Amino acid sequence: MSTTATQALSVPAAIEARHSIRKYKDQPVPAADLREILRLTSLAPSSANIQPWRFVVVENKALQAQLQAAAFNQAQVGSAPALIVVYADHEDVVATADEVIHPGVPPEGRERSRGMIAGFFAGKTLEQAHAITASQSGIAVGFLVLAAQSLGYSTSVMLGFDPAKVRELLDLPAHVNLPALIALGVADEPGFGTHRHPVDRLARFVS
Ligand SMILES: Cc1cc2nc3c(=O)[nH]c(=O)nc-3n(C[C@H](O)[C@H](O)[C@H](O)COP(=O)(O)O)c2cc1C
Repeated sequence: MSTTATQALSVPAAIEARHSIRKYKDQPVPAADLREILRLTSLAPSSANIQPWRFVVVENKALQAQLQAAAFNQAQVGSAPALIVVYADHEDVVATADEVIHPGVPPEGRERSRGMIAGFFAGKTLEQAHAITASQSGIAVGFLVLAAQSLGYSTSVMLGFDPAKVRELLDLPAHVNLPALIALGVADEPGFGTHRHPVDRLARFVS
């Protein structure tokens, strides 16, 4: 798949083209494409710009087979050319808050922002901290699947896995949250047809 910007799908076209794909061509994804997909993903918005999402990109069939076993044996975990493990690390967010504060913010403002970021998680249970990072990481997951689609790659977002086993296999600390596994590659099936509520079932317009 080519990744030049001139050939990238528009956002509406990528949205229309995306389906969950569980069978991929046996074709590696160039490292430059993976980096570009993650760079585009990193542009997702987050509360106070905390960017809690982190990624492990797995392109190792032996490890993928172990992850497949930890994901109720879902075939696309083991067979996808790339498996992106999305995790969120609120402890790292707090410890490195300075990195996400815009360089133009003066010292008093930086102090305020650091305090606000620490305040998001202070006194929270792990479950509460995970709820915060999961809702924000979901936005990044949306960006990721559309960025991939726009560059010619299909994806399958998954929540069907045992987080404790995935953490163990990837040597991730116990406090991190795992908002999704994402299989990624060139589609080798059309996927299911899209079936959605009509807008009028989902929304009401108040003016
Ligand atoms: C958060 C989330 C978790 C999902 N978990 C799984 C999963 O574990 N296994 C799977 O095969 N599909 C999973 N899916 C895919 C959904 O079944 C799929 O998105 C939905 O049926 C709509 O189909 P579409 O993605 O082709 O439009 C998940 C999707 C999302 C967004």
